[in-house]
Amino acid sequence: MKLSRCFTTEDFRKLARRKLPDPMYHYMQGGADDEWSKTNNETAFAKYELLPQTLTGVENIDMTTELLGAKLSMPVYLAPTGMSRLFHHDHELGVAAAAQKFETMYGVSTVATASIEDIAKACPGPKLFQVYALKDRGLTRELVARCKAAGYTALCLTVDTPVAGNRERDLVSGMTLPPKFTPASLLSFALSPEWVYRAITGGGFEMVNISHWVKGDQKGGVAAYINEQFDRSLTWKDAEWLANEWGGAFAIKGVMTPHDAIKARDHGASAVMISNHGGRQLDCVPAPIDMVAPIRDAVGDSLELIVEGGVRRGTDALKALALGANACSFGRPYLYGLAAGGQAGVERVLGLLQAELERDMALLGCKNITDISKRHIQKSR
Ligand SMILES: Cc1cc2nc3c(=O)[nH]c(=O)nc-3n(C[C@H](O)[C@H](O)[C@H](O)COP(=O)(O)O)c2cc1C
Repeated sequence: MKLSRCFTTEDFRKLARRKLPDPMYHYMQGGADDEWSKTNNETAFAKYELLPQTLTGVENIDMTTELLGAKLSMPVYLAPTGMSRLFHHDHELGVAAAAQKFETMYGVSTVATASIEDIAKACPGPKLFQVYALKDRGLTRELVARCKAAGYTALCLTVDTPVAGNRERDLVSGMTLPPKFTPASLLSFALSPEWVYRAITGGGFEMVNISHWVKGDQKGGVAAYINEQFDRSLTWKDAEWLANEWGGAFAIKGVMTPHDAIKARDHGASAVMISNHGGRQLDCVPAPIDMVAPIRDAVGDSLELIVEGGVRRGTDALKALALGANACSFGRPYLYGLAAGGQAGVERVLGLLQAELERDMALLGCKNITDISKRHIQKSR
């Protein structure tokens, strides 16, 4: 299958599957434990139906929206995902350039394989930096200072990761520390010659924004350092400390309850990402889409709400907005595009989504993002 024949998320996933060695594919695709939450994130959207309002005059559709103080061309942006070089040699710089082209926001992970500054050059537009607050607060301070200097729009603190989730696919595929090669994984590398060639000739797998903090004698390198550095002692006080250290638009990523959304607001956040990390952390938690209405009811207009997890279609985004979200983000769909075709693959994913959203808004009878409301949605019967 060629990139130009990919139309749905599933098409991009299939092409990514063919291009990637097993360990990389399963690292991208996998969820925690039984992957119940990962699957439920997607299927939960089917519990809702859209209610079109007809004859509303939809000749001009304006999908622009404001989020975290930035203007976006559409209410969907690219969620932070670590280590993009695992999936394609275009890595974060290709994703950043695609986000720039489509005038939406790019979320950059703490464990990116391109530098904060190089990504800022590839994406002068809106960009969000995602922080894992690690035990080394000096490192967090340094990351914040670099993001300020490079002109990042907003910062988010991921709070669903006091420890790494249990991703059993990684154990089977050998995506462990140190990596374990099995006959099956070696065969899959042999079947991904382009990926292997680029890996041998180009490298670039380092988590460049934090690698200089890793001491030379540290066993297992940067990945082991990160695992050891997840800070289980983190509390709301630390979140408030980070909000003050940053001093700009600040979000908490990984909020799943009205209680935590209120806490986030009271400790300096202007937005929360309703997220279970794509089902990669605690399994058996609700789907983010199911938590939008209760969280909106609890916080009123005092917080921006972002839905993250299982968003695959323009209609998914419209459902999230109708339930009370300000915007959505997605992870795996653009990573499938990246693995399938580098920057061009991410651009194709964004282009199809943008066209779909525009068409769906017209069909729903909404000219502007602010037109989308509760009267456009009902629970399936
Ligand atoms: C391969 C991969 C890596 C991720 N890395 C990070 C990360 O470094 N930091 C973070 O806060 N979230 C990370 N996430 C979670 C995403 O930000 C987002 O919550 C998730 O992908 C949304 O679900 P979706 O993939 O169903 O769209 C990662 C997700 C994936 C799939």
